[in-house]
Amino acid sequence: MFPVERPRRLRQTEALRAMVRETHLAVDQLIYPLFVRPGQGVKHPVTSMPGVYQWSPDTLVEEVGRAREVGVNRFLLFGVPSHKDAVGSEAYDENGIVQVALRTLKRAYPDAVLIADLCLCEYTDHGHCGLIDPESQEVLNDPTLDLLARTAVVQAQAGADIVAPSDMMDGRVGAIRRALDGAGLNHTPILSYAVKYASAFYGPFREAAENAPQFGDRRSYQMDPANRREAAREAGLDVAEGADLLLVKPALPYLDVLADVAAASPVPVGAYQVSGEYAMIKAASLNGWLDEERTMMESLTAIRRAGAAFIVTYFAPEVGRRLRLG
Ligand code: PBG
Repeated sequence: MFPVERPRRLRQTEALRAMVRETHLAVDQLIYPLFVRPGQGVKHPVTSMPGVYQWSPDTLVEEVGRAREVGVNRFLLFGVPSHKDAVGSEAYDENGIVQVALRTLKRAYPDAVLIADLCLCEYTDHGHCGLIDPESQEVLNDPTLDLLARTAVVQAQAGADIVAPSDMMDGRVGAIRRALDGAGLNHTPILSYAVKYASAFYGPFREAAENAPQFGDRRSYQMDPANRREAAREAGLDVAEGADLLLVKPALPYLDVLADVAAASPVPVGAYQVSGEYAMIKAASLNGWLDEERTMMESLTAIRRAGAAFIVTYFAPEVGRRLRLG
């Protein structure tokens, strides 16, 4: 018996395939993460992430300009400060490195969307995302909220179009919203890393942002990779507290979670293709084991297919170039 149903009929030519394609990847959906450190003329390679660099404000302006030439116009900024202390003071210092970079970029490109990652871990000498109780070594939740809220206000005043808390303290979205509103910044949206797992896939980022915890790990505040239903709770709380946008992180190993959250959320949901996801594709393609361009496009399409409205990815400029070529 020959089959009657022949799904292959619609796969015969690219023109037919394109007609019935369900998912599209566009450069407008991409957010390009960038690392900025003090100095001048800096282009310091992150060895575990080939193609990713730490920039100084001047070279950052050039890199952003190159990305804009291929249509990438949304940027997520991480600071690598020269000074770290127990309370992460450079995070909320007006002259902290991210604030300097925000002012510089806003002046150069007023229409770019600048997103400030909002966390203390790059700025604390212990590398945790909150204040530490000196006796118990516990990461303190409520005392950290004030510092996060202060950071949000300083970032928005320096030119952040969106603030993006990635710390995973309970109640931070509400605290940040109140602080922004109190400072007259009620138009600044909050992109909450609402569903963020304690993931080994952040490994290379620790080199890029120099934020490795000096003791312990992040499992007392980031989510357990085994949990799926908990994502709805985290997302629901953040929306109730005023989050305008949600992020699920990592992306590819958590597509089930992403699909759940995207289907239920009243606000747009994005995903973060994290450093380890990028490094895996880069390492395998540099060895000739994977085709980099196809793997990059397929993984990003899969993240979109699962429901991501936007994607944070280190591949953003490469995708921009690829889409431009058609
Ligand atoms: C900081 C932060 C991390 C990432 C984004 N913001 C690291 C962490 O939580 O340990 C990871 C991004 C990546 O791996 O690309 N809180």
